[in-house]
Amino acid sequence: MSDTAKLQVPGKEVEYPILTGSTGPDVVDIRKLYANTGMFTYDPGFTSTASCESGLTYIDGDEGILLHRGYPIGQLAEESSFMEVSYLLLNGELPNKEELDKFTYTISRHTMLHEQLATFYRGFRRDAHPMAVMCGVVGALSAFYHDSTDITDPKQRMIASHRLIAKMPTIAAMAYKYSVGQPFLYPDNSLSYTGNFLRMTFGVPAEEYVVNPVVEKALDRIFILHADHEQNASTSTVRLAGSSGANPFACIAAGIACLWGPAHGGANEAALNMLHEIGTPDRIPEFIARAKDKNDPFRLMGFGHRVYKNYDPRATVMQKTVREVFKELNVTDPVFEVALQLEEMALNDPYFVEKKLFPNVDFYSGIILSAIGFPTTMFTALFALARTVGWVAQWNEMISDPDQKIGRPRQLYTGPVQRDYIPVDKR
Ligand code: CMC
Repeated sequence: MSDTAKLQVPGKEVEYPILTGSTGPDVVDIRKLYANTGMFTYDPGFTSTASCESGLTYIDGDEGILLHRGYPIGQLAEESSFMEVSYLLLNGELPNKEELDKFTYTISRHTMLHEQLATFYRGFRRDAHPMAVMCGVVGALSAFYHDSTDITDPKQRMIASHRLIAKMPTIAAMAYKYSVGQPFLYPDNSLSYTGNFLRMTFGVPAEEYVVNPVVEKALDRIFILHADHEQNASTSTVRLAGSSGANPFACIAAGIACLWGPAHGGANEAALNMLHEIGTPDRIPEFIARAKDKNDPFRLMGFGHRVYKNYDPRATVMQKTVREVFKELNVTDPVFEVALQLEEMALNDPYFVEKKLFPNVDFYSGIILSAIGFPTTMFTALFALARTVGWVAQWNEMISDPDQKIGRPRQLYTGPVQRDYIPVDKR
């Protein structure tokens, strides 16, 4: 295979190197394109643009493969823990027992928030969306650690990363507690990362909270499934914000803001709302018809993906986990039946088949979270909690990349050309 790509532009031919990664598509290195030709590339939504080099996560969307540092997501979800995956993403290798214990202990030492942060919550309306609270409170962390974070120092970057991973459950649980008018619970570091989060969310000071191990495992698995996903919109947002040298807490707040949108992290909330709206299997054809109607903006939420043109491997694990949680809690939910039948009908419909639209991670996650007791508004907050590890790992990788530059896309300008100002009385 040629290791250069030739591009013919009016008046000249230019040649660019083709770079090869460890797996996946090669990339054409067009960094000199503008200098050579005076032209930019045009790629709205970055559908064909690799914005960085990364060794964290690999996705083969056609085959439905997702690897973290080379390990398949299915194996990690079945056999590891969120702490292990966090260590893996941050450090590049799976930890041995001693490393894992040390890492887990380190994270547990950062779970508390500065007491003054609790007062921030009172500034929000009780009905504020938890993602609004998360954006605000995580952004506010930058005011608490501003002077102590020198992002050129890998040690300080790692401390900031540990702080963020450790404090997200506390912040998310407090957002929930505030919305229901219950007192905040301090972390209990004798519990696991996920067990502690469950207790801070569902426990009350008046009673002992006993963590259900099946629920703990299911939620931990959901965290693993959301831990990282390559250069998605929120991760790219974190990288772009961080590329200017901004404080990491502010960068993660930017990632949370991006994640909130219904086309990204907000889809799990939207998917469950949609399943409830459908209500019974007999109404599925009506909603499928709407999703296919070009004049109707409705889309099947939890379906389709920019990268996966096959079954999202995370959806497979999610579907299995629904059954486990239902069995343990001895519950059923009619929306699960709606979801299963909707999936089957869509996967047999030429519209979805031709466009390669499959269930994504969000299709089943809401059903599990709802069975555990989380309100729909908390779903995206849980996604943010888990994705924080991916965000900080990607941010660290970016800052330590010698090729790192401030992110600054260009544009195809279509506005007015230069014209003279006309005073207001003459317009
Ligand atoms: N229902 C109906 N039609 C759809 C859907 C859907 N869920 N998703 C895509 N399409 C159609 C779309 O109308 C378009 O049709 P056409 O080519 O005729 O114009 C075609 O499929 C391609 O869609 P696109 O919007 O150009 O594709 P994209 O890669 O820009 O969008 C997506 C990917 C995830 C935003 C989109 O599939 C979507 O809006 N899905 C629903 C929201 C959702 O579940 N999001 C969660 C994504 S997974 C979690 C995460 O990683 O954040």
